[in-house]
Amino acid sequence: PVPYEENIPGGLYPKWTVTLRGYIPEWAQGFDINLQKSSSGELALHISIRLHDRTVVRNSHLKGGWGEEERGLPMNPFQRGQYFDMLIRCGNDRFKVFVNGRHLFNYNHRFRPVEEVDTLGIPGDIVLINVQF
Ligand code: GAL
Repeated sequence: PVPYEENIPGGLYPKWTVTLRGYIPEWAQGFDINLQKSSSGELALHISIRLHDRTVVRNSHLKGGWGEEERGLPMNPFQRGQYFDMLIRCGNDRFKVFVNGRHLFNYNHRFRPVEEVDTLGIPGDIVLINVQF
């Protein structure tokens, strides 16, 4: 069910990986994927997939405020009416994100320690088929 919110037992660590499969409805405006610290509400990685303006905005929300957005993409694999597979891997220095088997972007860690990231949240217009970590 969406909004999806799951505890990540023990938090993240280098090589931690989540895979998710979703379907984007024809009427979708957008959805978010958040890796967060539940006790503070901080977002270590916020991915905002916006169908209406075909962007994928990445940011962090730390100490009560948004940081600088990252928006560059080699392609945009998120389309209304389509399924997608996504993989997010936490590395030592950055997250690496792949969609449909292709590298989409990296995101240098702004929040540390990554072990304190303990929740995966997915709100918005998406049908979640599968989430595994
Ligand atoms: C804001 C938006 C937030 C978040 C943020 C990312 O405009 O309201 O939900 O996506 O951008 O920088």
